[in-house]
Amino acid sequence: MDTRPTPPRKPPLTTGQIVETFTGFFHDRGHRFVPSVPLVRPPGDPVLFTTSGMHPLTPYLEGRPHPLGRRLVNSQRVLRTTDLDEVGDPTHLTVFQMLGSWSLGDYGTEQSLRWGYELLVDGFGIGPERLHATVFGGDDQLGPDTRSLQTWRDLGVPVELTGQDNWWSNGPTGPCGPDSEIFVWTGDTPPQGTPTGDDRWVEVWNHVMMRYRRLDDQSLQPLARPGVDTGMGLERLVMVLQGRPSVFGIDLFDPWRQALLWQLDGAEWRIVTDHLRSAVVMIADGVRPAANAHGYVLRRLLRRVLTTLWRHDPDHTLADLPVELIEGTLGHFGQQCPVEEVREVLLSEQHRFAGMLRRGRQVLSRPRFSGPLSEEDYGCLHDTHGLPRELIDMLRQESVAGK
Ligand code: SER
Repeated sequence: MDTRPTPPRKPPLTTGQIVETFTGFFHDRGHRFVPSVPLVRPPGDPVLFTTSGMHPLTPYLEGRPHPLGRRLVNSQRVLRTTDLDEVGDPTHLTVFQMLGSWSLGDYGTEQSLRWGYELLVDGFGIGPERLHATVFGGDDQLGPDTRSLQTWRDLGVPVELTGQDNWWSNGPTGPCGPDSEIFVWTGDTPPQGTPTGDDRWVEVWNHVMMRYRRLDDQSLQPLARPGVDTGMGLERLVMVLQGRPSVFGIDLFDPWRQALLWQLDGAEWRIVTDHLRSAVVMIADGVRPAANAHGYVLRRLLRRVLTTLWRHDPDHTLADLPVELIEGTLGHFGQQCPVEEVREVLLSEQHRFAGMLRRGRQVLSRPRFSGPLSEEDYGCLHDTHGLPRELIDMLRQESVAGK
């Protein structure tokens, strides 16, 4: 019998160490660090928010020389509203950090995937048997991505071929190409099934082979200088490395859990935590609540938070949000903004929303609005009383539920 004491298990890496390991790995391989840009895209950009690390780099992926060279790495704050309805589940966040690496016409697919494997296995200590890849299997315009397929085979990683799931584009036109996603097994049993068939395979890293530009007529033009763009959601990677069942269970959220925010739990706690944290980052990047564009997204997040809180107790207030949570969030995302400024925006939106709800309930209790509402009613409620349609519908549902 082996009587040697078992070596103590190494504690999992912290979020900060994981970022350093990622950026250090690519730095050692000749990549220069590109600083994070704000969430708000400059005027003229077709999208409102920075949605991926590659987004600000689009012109360089299309061929313009980058001042820092042809190998880049960064950690970029991003906002994704496409997943807004999924927030509340264990793996989606509205604002998160995206780790990224780029080859701007330098090395190709095989090198990128091999480094990806090396970092996950040797750098982060993930057992190779817990890895699975997916690869573009071809469509009516293009054949399968055989280079990626061969690389994974050489590395001994199982591959699943898919169609559109392994095609990446940032919009209807612009740079695009086949991608290869890396999944890590998170189940308690030995790995089984494939990524599309078993959600215990969690996607952590996407390597996009930027080989084409999609033109207005939807045709694909090969890029003169193809590159590679990779993106890995930090919080989800941390979840896997720290062995947590949810992104909200990682070290980054310890202070949020310890604060026992308004005694919430489950999906409500996750929604309130995600939306408040996202709101803080947006406010620090200069977004202010408004009826349209960036400000509308912020308003929607805050109103969902307030509606959730007030369902439990109409006296709950954002004034009770601990300042340490605001400071910690600003620190994690590398933002400089006075905490007081963030609090003022939160409280003034809370004040405004409370006033609207009060007015709305009063107006809607009038006999004229007791039956089904016509378009004219909605118009009058909006123009005369400043009540938006979604708020009217919410209040009417509330009064039906309360009857
Ligand atoms: N563009 C890819 C993504 O956002 C990889 O960066 O997933």
